Amino acid sequence: MSENQKIQAVKNGLHGEVAIPGDKSVSHRSVMFSALGDKAVRITNFLNAQDCLSTVACMRSLGVEIEQISETELVVHGRGLHGLMESQSIVDAGNSGTTLRLMMGILAPQPFLTTFTGDDSLHKRPMARVIKPLSQMGAKIVGRDHNRLLPITVVPAGEKLQGINYDMPMASAQVKSAVLLAGMYADGKTTVTEPYTSRDHTERMLETFGVSLEKTGTSISIERVAAFVSPEAIEVPGDISSAAYWLVAASIIPGSELLLKNVGVNPTRTGILDVLEAMGADITLQNERMSGKEPVADILVKYSKLHGTSFGAEIMPRLIDEIPILTVAAMFAEGDTVITGAGELRVKETDRLQAITQQFNKFNQCIEGTEDGLVIKGEGVLEKATGYSYHDHRIAMSLAIAGAAGQGVEIESGDCVKISYPEFYDTLAALAK
Ligand code: S3P
Repeated sequence: MSENQKIQAVKNGLHGEVAIPGDKSVSHRSVMFSALGDKAVRITNFLNAQDCLSTVACMRSLGVEIEQISETELVVHGRGLHGLMESQSIVDAGNSGTTLRLMMGILAPQPFLTTFTGDDSLHKRPMARVIKPLSQMGAKIVGRDHNRLLPITVVPAGEKLQGINYDMPMASAQVKSAVLLAGMYADGKTTVTEPYTSRDHTERMLETFGVSLEKTGTSISIERVAAFVSPEAIEVPGDISSAAYWLVAASIIPGSELLLKNVGVNPTRTGILDVLEAMGADITLQNERMSGKEPVADILVKYSKLHGTSFGAEIMPRLIDEIPILTVAAMFAEGDTVITGAGELRVKETDRLQAITQQFNKFNQCIEGTEDGLVIKGEGVLEKATGYSYHDHRIAMSLAIAGAAGQGVEIESGDCVKISYPEFYDTLAALAK
């Protein structure tokens, strides 16, 4: 058993600059797409954390040479769209839903077999949402419990996949990406339509590799791809989902002022900025620029008295990973915050709605869970507490910020921050000095 992670209350605010680590979604895609490209690609500001290293390990086991130049710099030697090779062993996606779901899209059209496993959390997460559309395209994928769960085997389809028109029941970038990636190999046109637009890093990066997509409203179409032309280099922007902890921490800890450097501000990811602004946060974007096809900025955030707000399904895909930390913001805000349309949180690394009500209420009984959301009563006094992370990185980091802004916290199984932000606790300690 690892020791509990202890976080002290922060007395005099958080101060300084934070170099935000590379975006998790973009890091995964940079490795996967480069592996399918026509030459070597240098990837900089790669997120050197467990989830993205699962993607690196998967691609290596499929025959791709990947050099680790430094902590955050990789060179991926592309093998071409048809160059992946059968793995000699079971491929382990670890804790990473993105690795597993996107890789299923890439592997469904390949003429060899792949079997996937993952950690306990990934074994519980629903995979039918990807297997169903890929099977409609002609893929042969079998999984435990009626093709719903890991372990999963992707069997050669025998015939070429066929393009489909797929109306997604939920907004999900992972499902959308898996279908589009399989669509690169399919006959005819593949179209996916989402109820609301989810993050579009796949679409932007496909364009970087010379693929043209057709976009109408929330529909994206792709046709069979003949040439997948790699760029020389990909620079990964900083992850707004990691910046989120500092955006909220500085907003709720009196006296704080932080400059968050090089944050990806792709509009499909900036729901947290909109919600914090509606709550009265003091946030300014500076030095807005492009990093490849992704917009980035430096973000200045200062303490400000927040007030409660309401938000729901429409904005959810733009802040899907930020609900735990936005709950912490709401705990410190004046008045109630009502979150609806967040049912997808029940199938993340853990059931995050349940984790929030079970663990965050230990600071102060201020949160009521609903079927698809939360009602948070703000401005209560937080007590010192011990909270369990459920091995979910975003629950652990949110508990840490609640404790830092309140009376301190002990986090059970806090080491899971290594999934997306290995330097998180050291960064918090440095900013609190
Ligand atoms: C991701 C998409 C989101 C998000 C996950 C990363 C991606 O999941 O929660 O952390 O990189 O495509 P869904 O697309 O399933 O909502």
